[in-house]
Amino acid sequence: MKKGKKLYEGKAKIIFSSTDKNLVIQHFKDDATAFNNQKKASIEGKGILNNRISEHILSALKDVGIENHLIKRLNMREQLIDFVDIIPIEFVIRNIVTGSLTKRLGIEDGTILNKPLIEFCYKNDKLGDPLIAKEHIDAFGWASLSEIELITDKCLRINDFLQGMFRGINIKLVDFKLEFGKRKSDGKIILADEISPDTCRLWDADTDRKLDKDRFRKNLGDIVEAYQEVARRLGILHEQANNIRPIKFPKPTAVKIKKK
Ligand code: TMP
Repeated sequence: MKKGKKLYEGKAKIIFSSTDKNLVIQHFKDDATAFNNQKKASIEGKGILNNRISEHILSALKDVGIENHLIKRLNMREQLIDFVDIIPIEFVIRNIVTGSLTKRLGIEDGTILNKPLIEFCYKNDKLGDPLIAKEHIDAFGWASLSEIELITDKCLRINDFLQGMFRGINIKLVDFKLEFGKRKSDGKIILADEISPDTCRLWDADTDRKLDKDRFRKNLGDIVEAYQEVARRLGILHEQANNIRPIKFPKPTAVKIKKK
């Protein structure tokens, strides 16, 4: 598949045309931003990890019948995907209260929700991705009420599946963001964008250690190491071994070696 011209450049990814008008190439950059582009950095190896992690998750979702834009991964940083018209809404699914929800409503960080909470944000950096009601989505023609219902139903199914997948590798899926689009070839609404530690909050189940982009947002350090840890637990790290920095293991403390 030959790469054509650049169609769109976002904060963490670039979309290129391909030789098929219904397919495009999604390229994962190392760039990281937070707080709607106010904080910026380049994190070596992040794009490679997100490409691989997102491929793994979207393939698993496809296997359980959740249609999405992934066709196949092409190389370390790129994947072939369906060309979609992105619906300009970020669908945020929360299982544990943290982040902007804590700030907005003052609910204690770490509060476990009785059932998943879905929020809608208008994708617009200049406005700071404001929280909106589904009536806004309908009123401004971003999607109809029946389409929103279909999408929220998918969000809950995806949440169920991902919670189980992460629980199996001792990670709590705290919250995450999904994007959907209308496939150019047939107009069908499908899952798009990426699912990775950039778009999820992932906490180690034993220690609540953050294994996601909050390490960048909150200056916690060891960002790549945390993403590597997620990839390692998902069983997909080996392939990158020569291309990204090795995992730094914590120094052993107070290990006494007995002399024989
Ligand atoms: P929030 O608590 O900052 O609203 O974030 C909720 C979830 O959505 C969290 O997993 C991070 C993810 N997210 C994105 O992927 N992109 C965004 O632009 C924002 C604001 C959040």
